[in-house]
Parts: sequence; C-alpha cells; structure tokens
Amino acid sequence: MDVYRYLVDFDTKDLIIENHDVVIIGSGIAGVYTALEIPEKYSIAILTKESIEISNSVLAQGGIAVSLDKGDSPELHFKDTIYAGAGLCNEESVWVLVKEAAENIDALCKFGVEFDRKSKNELCLSREGAHSKNRIIHAGDTTGKEVCDKLISIVKTRDNVVIKERTFALDLVTENNVCKGVLAYDEDKDAYILYLADVVVCATGGFGQLYLNTTNPEVATGDGVCLAYRAGAELMDLEFIQFHPTVLFHPENKSFLISEAVRGEGALLKNIHGERFMPKYHELNELAPRDIVSRSIFSEMKKTKSDHVYLDITFKGRDYLEHRFPNIYKTCMSYGIDMSKDYIPVAPAEHYCMGGIRTDVWGRTNIKGFFACGETACNGIHGANRLASNSLLEGLVFGHKIGTEIDSLISKCEKRQKSINLKVETGRCAKNVDTEEIKQDIKETMTKYVGITRDKEGLEKAKQKVDTYYEIIKDMKNTNIRHYEIQNIVLLSKLVIESALERKESRGAHFRRDYQERDDKNWKRNIIKRKI
Ligand code: SIN
Repeated sequence: MDVYRYLVDFDTKDLIIENHDVVIIGSGIAGVYTALEIPEKYSIAILTKESIEISNSVLAQGGIAVSLDKGDSPELHFKDTIYAGAGLCNEESVWVLVKEAAENIDALCKFGVEFDRKSKNELCLSREGAHSKNRIIHAGDTTGKEVCDKLISIVKTRDNVVIKERTFALDLVTENNVCKGVLAYDEDKDAYILYLADVVVCATGGFGQLYLNTTNPEVATGDGVCLAYRAGAELMDLEFIQFHPTVLFHPENKSFLISEAVRGEGALLKNIHGERFMPKYHELNELAPRDIVSRSIFSEMKKTKSDHVYLDITFKGRDYLEHRFPNIYKTCMSYGIDMSKDYIPVAPAEHYCMGGIRTDVWGRTNIKGFFACGETACNGIHGANRLASNSLLEGLVFGHKIGTEIDSLISKCEKRQKSINLKVETGRCAKNVDTEEIKQDIKETMTKYVGITRDKEGLEKAKQKVDTYYEIIKDMKNTNIRHYEIQNIVLLSKLVIESALERKESRGAHFRRDYQERDDKNWKRNIIKRKI
C-alpha cells in the first residue's frame, strides 16, 4: 500500500461501522446549512473535530453580502466580486452566488435568524471593502454566531441527523474513484469508526493554523483539503491566502477580528505617527479590496519600522459604537482600549483561503459521491481575493445546491452496496517526533516566507524546510490527534508553497516581489492532484 494514501493502518473487518445516506464533515455554516437543505428522508451524520459550536463561521463578524437595496442588483454584486477577484474568478460560479443570494437569505430568516432591521420589512445594509453599494446584512457584529446558533439549534431537532462531536475525519475510503465513506477517529470512544455513506460532503473550513497569527480557531488545520488530496481529489488556487487587514494587535490577543464593517462605518487607518495613509495607495482608500489594504498596511509598517498600525473611529460616539459593535467594543475594553477615545492597534493576520478542493457549482468534485462546500471548497467564486462578506454566503448558496444535487443523485441511482472489504497496511513506523516544535516552526516559516508578499528565494527556503519535515513524517505511524494534524499541516504547507512558486506573477492575495506585475497573457490556474 502506498504510504501516502492513508494516515493509519486498518482492516474494515475489525472496525466499528456506521451506515448513513450522507456524511458531512464539519459543523460551520456550510456543513450545517447543507444538512438542513438535504431532504429529511435521508439519514445524515455530521462529524466535527471539536464540539459543534466551534467553527470559523461562528467567529464571522461583518455579515452576509446580498443585493437588496434600491439601485443595487446581482449584476453589481457580480461586478464587485469579479473586480476584487483580480481576474481569476470563475464567472459561472459567481453568477450562481449573486443570483441565488436573496432566496437563501430568505430561507435563513424563515429559520429564525434575526438580522438587524430598519423596520419589520427592511434589513439594515452596511458597507464593506470593494462593495459599490451598501449590501451587508448583519446581526450586530456577531453575525456568524447568530446564524450558526440558529441553524445548529434546528439541526439538533432533526431526527434524521446525528452529530458526532470530537470525531476527527482521517481519510476518505474510496474504491475505483468512488467515495464509500470516511474513516474517523472518535476521541471519546478512543476508536476508529468507518462511516459508510452514499455521499460525503467536506465542509471543514480553512487552514489558518499554518500561520502564526490567524482569525481562525485552533481546529483550522486543513484536514479536509488533505484527506481529499490523499484520496485523489483535485485542489485549486492554494497560493491565494487572504490576510485580513485589521486584526487586533495586543500582546495578549493577535487573533481577534476588528470587522471591516468598522471601516465601512468610516474608520480610518493611521500609521504609528498618527498619519492617514490609504489615500496614497488606492482610490477606494480604507475600503479598497482586502489584499490591497493588507499590503498597504504591511508597507506602512515597514516604512515606520513598526509591527502595527491604528484604526481610528474615535469620531463616532460611545453610544453608537457600543450599539453597532457591541462585541468589538466589549473586547477592546477588556484590553483597556476604549474605541470611542483610543485608536485600536491592528495588523493583518491570516483570515481565509481562496483555494481548496476543486468543485463545480453543484459542489461535485472529481471523486464520485464526494462533494465540498464553503471555505474548504474552491469553485472559483473568490478568484485571487475574496470580496468581503461573500464567505458565509458561499456556504449558504452552494450548501443549498449540494442539498438539491444529493437528492437527485441518491434518488436516481440504485442504492449502492454500502459495504467494503479493505485491509490497509501503510508500512508506517513508530517515530519519536516533537509535533509541537514542527508546528511552531512551520507557522514561523509560512508567516515569514509565504505571507502577504513572497519571492522565489523565500519560497525556496520555506520549501526546503517543509520538505525536510515531510521526509521525517511521511512514513510516521500516526497514533493520536497531534500526529494526524501535523501530517496535514506539513502536507498542506508543502502544497501551498509549491503553488506559490508556480505562480510567477502578482495577482490578488498572491504578491511576488520578484514578479510584481499581473500577467494576463500567461494566465494559468494551479490545479493539483496527487499522482496515484
Ligand atoms: C469582517 O467582518 O471583516 C470579516 C468578514 C469577512 O471575512 O468577509
């Protein structure tokens, strides 16, 4: 058996086996909404690495983009998404996103999600970077939490859904490029379980934990992208990593987001000398696309030899700020920063991965019966740089499409035989490896060489380091969660670096100091697949 294919040895004869129609890996908005959009006649298991409440989606502050305002339209939303995406968006996918946005927001409201409203029939719409209209619906500054809390409370009442917490999805089990299920490690039972299913949906979010500072939770180690890659799924656009421009920069907290909505309400970026700088960099000033704002901050930090800049919203009154941004206001206060009087120290931090498992608009991958949705998927809607507040929307629109497609897929075909006989002996051997030390070193390496700006020399240094770790762990016997995670962190870092080396141009979030121009002539997508 090929050592790379599976993380652990197993024999299906000895495994606990569970049968479901659908298995969803991940419990963020994409996973849970997909579960709710699949007809209730199908049995579903949601596997989640931690508790169901922990995901990237829950932390989303700003909101969800949808063209509802007078004078706005899906066409304008399309145009803004394409502009932010720097020529790399897949137009077919973007059309689906913007045209199907409103009906999915309507569905959320019917599920009981409460967005801020001007009146009973009118939602409040705010502005974020690179949007030409006010089109961000929100629930204060904890939109992700409001949406996820409601969806989770509903999914928990569904008789057809079982939620498996503290269950680490290790690998897809496939036969002749057909997905048969998921091999997972159940932490509570301390046992491997084989979840057999007609369809598996991967919705595991991003991989911010490859970097030192990230807005992502601890669980975001790219497990879904890696299990897909090991099974032969195509990955796309991995070099495009979005750094959110304004993440709190405080000795005790460098991961708390200061929502782009704060700039949407007029906040100004100032350097450590108190000088506003964005007008020097872009005509849209503080509301330029995210990649541009992050690079401008980075450059200003370098010029002023500082590790942060400031966000100034002191001109808005305390009552207004406490009401509009209750969570940000409270959190800043807990660090002694009163945003109605003090500038907020901020710096860019890893926030979102534009690339992931390649899918079409129905969420289908190149492996039969295997779908991907949300940040872990890549159907090209974000191109080289995601437009603000398009990510929760992505989980909704494509979660709905996957729900529809799964219904037609399962009901059309005769039920596949849900059994498999497979004995895997990878030849992995026990090794004494300090996984924490490797993880820390990778984070430092990725931050230094594969961050907001890159060049060949730095990328090659990063590659050399990660390749060394890869050689050490590639045949290591994996016996616990730290082992599984480090395998994924090393593999994914390697793939991101290789993709970044391959793209010899600057586009969106991928800025090469040695190739500073966008090259529309030799335009090419990085699609990668494991050689099997
Ligand atoms: C934010 O509130 O700034 C984040 C929203 C997003 O990532 O789209």
